[in-house]
Amino acid sequence: MRVAIIGQGYVGLTIAVGAAGAGHSVVGFDVNDGLVAALNSGTSHIEGITDKALAGFIGSGLYTASKDASVLDGCDVIVIAVPTPLDEKRNPDLSFVHAAADLIAKNVRGTKLIINESTSYPGTLRKEIAARITEVVHLFASSPERVDPGNTQWGTKNTPRLIGGLTPEAVGKAKEFYGSFCDSIIEVSSPEVAEAAKIFENTFRQVNIALVNEFAQIADALGISGREVIDAAATKPYGFMELNPGPGVGGHCIPVDPSYLAHVANEVGVPATFIKRANEVNLAMPAYVVKRVIEGFGGSIVGKSVVVVGVSYKANVADTRETPAAAVIDLLREQGATVTWHDELVGTWRGETSSPISGADIVVLVTKHDAVDLDAVRTCGYVFDCTGTIAGADGI
Ligand SMILES: NC(=O)c1ccc[n+]([C@@H]2O[C@H](COP(=O)([O-])OP(=O)(O)OC[C@H]3O[C@@H](n4cnc5c(N)ncnc54)[C@H](O)[C@@H]3O)[C@@H](O)[C@H]2O)c1
Repeated sequence: MRVAIIGQGYVGLTIAVGAAGAGHSVVGFDVNDGLVAALNSGTSHIEGITDKALAGFIGSGLYTASKDASVLDGCDVIVIAVPTPLDEKRNPDLSFVHAAADLIAKNVRGTKLIINESTSYPGTLRKEIAARITEVVHLFASSPERVDPGNTQWGTKNTPRLIGGLTPEAVGKAKEFYGSFCDSIIEVSSPEVAEAAKIFENTFRQVNIALVNEFAQIADALGISGREVIDAAATKPYGFMELNPGPGVGGHCIPVDPSYLAHVANEVGVPATFIKRANEVNLAMPAYVVKRVIEGFGGSIVGKSVVVVGVSYKANVADTRETPAAAVIDLLREQGATVTWHDELVGTWRGETSSPISGADIVVLVTKHDAVDLDAVRTCGYVFDCTGTIAGADGI
């Protein structure tokens, strides 16, 4: 099939490579000129996709990046994989989804299979995408992306894929497309079910991480190790899922998607109380970390040098979107400390560059990449560990 993928970020490029690997001819469409140029020169910006793999698909003619919207009309399948962030009031911002739909409406004349992979609330495919594209009758399906960047065990091929469509024909075509590069396809009765499943998965995680974060604080106040309790509870072979405490949640999904569910819940008059509370708990974790650092160090960090180690939101990825490290750093600075950060994967961030670890009065280990020099961490005066890595250190 000839496939166009609108948006070449974490999701779009991952799907592009999956589809090209199955022999489809893929155009990665993006509005970011620099990204399109980098991709066409064989430079990947995603951890799980090597430059070599990308260059291979370019060389064999199976992949090209483009910012020319006329390419869309030459394709059989158009996949939408654009950002779905929150606005300043933490409400869904569907402007990127609308822009992608409008792009299709303006540039596509023949009937296509149009699939939305962007995460959004139930009703998005029907009301926010299909309803905006009225000139041509297309086949519409929803297949929310479940990619977990940096996960080497579960990828595009072996993660089961949900599909819901507006018509049986759309579902059939979408199954044919994804069946060519995904092992397991699960058809659900409507796009709304597929869309809701994705945001419920991430809400389940957000709420349970908040529960663990709150429990870690209770355990610490009781003088026991929250992590040891969780490890002990996880020996139960059924009915318990192990999640670990941390400095908050980050990335494009867990801090954001539940608010999409809360938004539609509110519209139908059912308040999403767990989501609200989970947001409060998770967003308060950086302040809890800083409070514990000050207590653990001895009461004041004014004028002390602090290195925050690992500023991306999770281990072994360079993604800093919504990372709790930002609030940890800002709050430490508010308390009068001189704060630098170390993260070789991130390199530069918020106009600052990664600094060495050694010699600091205090180290706060926020995210532990495999490459981090733990010996350098251990040699610093006081270590606060948010990752459960350094035996004997203070932490959560
Ligand atoms: N990152 C993840 O781990 C993950 C996992 C599952 C689902 N998702 C969801 O997938 C969607 C995309 O997320 P992402 O992480 O790939 O985002 P991203 O920010 O990495 O990439 C989005 C890309 O879309 C491009 N773009 C924006 N508007 C466009 C337009 N009108 N036309 C063409 N390109 C446009 C941007 O330039 C960018 O390159 C979101 O809904 C997200 O919630 C993300």
